[in-house]
Amino acid sequence: PMITFVAPDGAEYVVDARGLHSVMEAARNHMVPGIDADCGGSGSCATCHVHVDAAWAQATGAADEMEQAMLDCVEEPSATSRLSCQIRVSDALDGLVVRLPARQG
Ligand code: FES
Repeated sequence: PMITFVAPDGAEYVVDARGLHSVMEAARNHMVPGIDADCGGSGSCATCHVHVDAAWAQATGAADEMEQAMLDCVEEPSATSRLSCQIRVSDALDGLVVRLPARQG
């Protein structure tokens, strides 16, 4: 599945997430800036925060309680905020678009 990361300046990073577990891994593997992922994907650092494009909010699902608690602490929360390490890659997410927060890390 192909995932598009949109930077605050409008730059787009389109990456192939095949064989990867999470959207965070896809960003890290392709050196997308702004996804530091300090905790390595355990959902405890919030440096992998993204805004899911509204059209994809349903497909990516909702944050669970633990993830939501972390999202309550991010600098720029939105209605579609997610921790990208908690978004599991699947073929259903081919074409997914997420936006990177302006300030992170
Ligand atoms: Fe730390 Fe996602 S990588 S919360």
